[in-house]
Amino acid sequence: FARPGTAGLAFEPIAPVARTVDAFTVPTGYTWSPLIRWGDPLFSSAPAFDILAQTPEAQALQFGYNCDYLDILADPNGKRGVLVTNHEYVNPGIMFPATSDPAELRRRGDIYKAAQGLSVVELERRRTGEPWGHVVDGRRNRRITVETVFELTGPAAGTDLVKTADDPEGRWVRGTLGNCAGGTTPWGTILSGEENFNGYFAWAADTPGQKRYQSSPSTATSTGWETYDPRFNAHDPAFVNEPNRFGYIVEIDPDDPTSTPRKHTAMGRMKHEGANVIVGHDKRVVAYMGDDERNDYLYKFVSKHKISGSRKKNMRLLAEGDLYVARFTGDSPASEITGTGALPSDGQFDGSGEWIPLTQNGVSVVPGFTTEQVLVFTRLAADAVGATKMDRPEDVEPNPKTGKVYVALTNNSQRGSASPLDEANPVTGNRYGHVIELTETAGQSGTTFGWSILLLCGDPATNANTYFAGFPSELVSPISCPDNVAFDSEGNLWISTDGAPSTIGYNDALYKVPLEGSERGHVQQFLAVPRDAETCGPVIHDREGLVFVAVQHPGEEGTFDAPTSLFPDYGSTAPGAVPNAPRPSIVQVHRA
Ligand code: FEO
Ligand code: CA
Ligand code: CA
Ligand code: CA
Repeated sequence: FARPGTAGLAFEPIAPVARTVDAFTVPTGYTWSPLIRWGDPLFSSAPAFDILAQTPEAQALQFGYNCDYLDILADPNGKRGVLVTNHEYVNPGIMFPATSDPAELRRRGDIYKAAQGLSVVELERRRTGEPWGHVVDGRRNRRITVETVFELTGPAAGTDLVKTADDPEGRWVRGTLGNCAGGTTPWGTILSGEENFNGYFAWAADTPGQKRYQSSPSTATSTGWETYDPRFNAHDPAFVNEPNRFGYIVEIDPDDPTSTPRKHTAMGRMKHEGANVIVGHDKRVVAYMGDDERNDYLYKFVSKHKISGSRKKNMRLLAEGDLYVARFTGDSPASEITGTGALPSDGQFDGSGEWIPLTQNGVSVVPGFTTEQVLVFTRLAADAVGATKMDRPEDVEPNPKTGKVYVALTNNSQRGSASPLDEANPVTGNRYGHVIELTETAGQSGTTFGWSILLLCGDPATNANTYFAGFPSELVSPISCPDNVAFDSEGNLWISTDGAPSTIGYNDALYKVPLEGSERGHVQQFLAVPRDAETCGPVIHDREGLVFVAVQHPGEEGTFDAPTSLFPDYGSTAPGAVPNAPRPSIVQVHRA
């Protein structure tokens, strides 16, 4: 397997871990510990976690389920800090024993509402460089759930498309759904993408705007909320617009637990994976965003106003600005894009691109679409302007060192069938995914770019057409289904995966990838998560020798009665531990 490199955090790459192994695996010289686990109390008023005695009230005071986006923000003294994470969804079948009792299902529905959303948790440690502990009753501790009130901002707020019987003003939304990846802004707020919101509604899905987000009508959902909470039953004319109030980038202020979080309509509505902000040369801020669906698009948002020294003003930056969608053009003949992943004769999958405006000066420039139609039915507007259908854009993040943008394209079983091959998406049925490196050619807020494929993922031992930016494939770790990306202090790329078990047979993992010099493309595996889990939210504090990940859905293929993972407590009967069930958790990896 891979050789160690010299750039960035030093470690001996681990061997890939077989998909049946239920262990969290780190390199020699490192160890790991859970920083916080599903059910750990954030407040002393919460009871100790007991799965069989769980209540909605307890869950609303405890760490939630299925953590995804993560950031760890240290205060200037380095001894206090705050952790912010998303809780994307729940796994009813592994959280609790099977039941068909309607009263119990109703009660669990309210537990699920409290287990999703986000957590903000204060951290402390004795000295800098050490692993963190979490602070019960910390000043900043907060749970945001499916009942927390959000304010809609931007041009679609207050329009008829987002009004319901509960909110005739169209400005106040209860809850956030499907919070997947995210980003931390230069002004210290957290952005979170509402991704698979459609699955929480029973709805007719009979208009073009609805169908583009939910392809067929639905009557029953996995959480059952539609059976007792009318806002999740969009068959009811009073709530037909409720799904239009989800699918946004939300912004929360982790410093102020009393603040009202916001949903920014100016950034469009889609299955938002996340959003990552960089400040452009003209001081406007630019957010890069992926719509995670097969054959959907890559977007960017450019703020109207410039960043300033006022945090309060900066917190309004994402409410006004222009939305763009990407069109990629290859520079090799179409005949050389064969679908196997074999490089074209110029030696690269590469070319140029343009950012096509959907709004300009905050107003629709898409013929036939009002501004609110562009922002609520963004996918239809992007269809109309001829954007490039991509292989499921997940995390999209600018490198703070270089401004180059890295786009994780996780896979696309429909490439070459529902969508044609092109040089930016060149593999038929793209099973292992790829990563595009995008270089803005007219400044960060401009409308032209260059691009090349940095990685064509897969296991080079079994797949001849993997590509690692020209680095010898026999010296890299196998990697499949890139999902989240992050950067260390030197600007090396880190990639976490979701889908390796079913594609290359290994547990999902975290990798370091240098981007400069002779080591460019040298993919090195740092850790592997336990059985059936996805690696999420990597945070690389390389100067402190600390790496953090969210371990999402460990044991997802099992049931409560027949678990496939016991991560992270593994049979422990220590206080607060759960010996016999998996718990999604934040893990910190540190030097042994
Ligand atoms: Fe929730 Fe696109 O991953
Ligand atoms: Ca080319
Ligand atoms: Ca993801
Ligand atoms: Ca990221």
